[in-house]
Amino acid sequence: MRKKIVAGNWKMNLDYNEGLALFSEIINMVKDEATGTQEAVICSPFIHIHSLVQLSKGYSKIAVGAQNAHQEEKGAYTGEISAKMIKSTGAAYVILGHSERRQYFGETNALLAKKTDTALKNDLRPIFCIGETLQEREANTHFDVIKTQLVDGIFHLDAEAFAKLVIAYEPVWAIGTGVTATSAQAQEIHEFIRKEIAAKYSQEVADATTILYGGSCNPTNAAELFAQPDIDGGLIGGASLKSRDFTDIVKTFN
Ligand code: G3H
Repeated sequence: MRKKIVAGNWKMNLDYNEGLALFSEIINMVKDEATGTQEAVICSPFIHIHSLVQLSKGYSKIAVGAQNAHQEEKGAYTGEISAKMIKSTGAAYVILGHSERRQYFGETNALLAKKTDTALKNDLRPIFCIGETLQEREANTHFDVIKTQLVDGIFHLDAEAFAKLVIAYEPVWAIGTGVTATSAQAQEIHEFIRKEIAAKYSQEVADATTILYGGSCNPTNAAELFAQPDIDGGLIGGASLKSRDFTDIVKTFN
């Protein structure tokens, strides 16, 4: 049975002390809620990661991740953070290809393919984000956009490497807008993604791939979204900054 994940993406929020305080609250509230094949993940700014990993020790269902990593192993890239550095903190995950990285930092599918390789080489599990803009959906090109993101970003991997990925479908028009994709819209895309994985790899690989939904997910709409057969959890932005909301979303699986 594939893993169910609720991952929080704190984005560029919370100073060091605020982050530690929120994470401590989340551990206390989530520790008895994430059970079985479930995992709760917090992807924090880099400055928090090491301390969060220390706080999470002993809680097997709570993991920590980064929000980005550089594509090169090391070198003269002032201000950047490598996958190896992230791994050395004890973090398990890294978000790659978030639409904000694609939009504001010009990250392309080709660059993200390299970032994915480097993250995997350093034993980090990428949470690889894909999703269409409003214009692309209105132009009815959303399936093509998503297929291209899959093919150019991650379908170069062999099946063994691919099995380490988590995929997050995040329609750009739903991120931080309060407008959520309907459960039918989200399920339609998740089913499409799973079919593409089956066609490229195998049904077995497709069935084992965790595919998260992201975009204005909150305690009110999570239950209906997560009840869809191809939605295996969420990548949560705004609601992950409130311990009660994040916990209530995790509890949706219980
Ligand atoms: O990574 C998280 C997504 O961008 C969703 O953010 O829940 O604030 O819409 P949001």
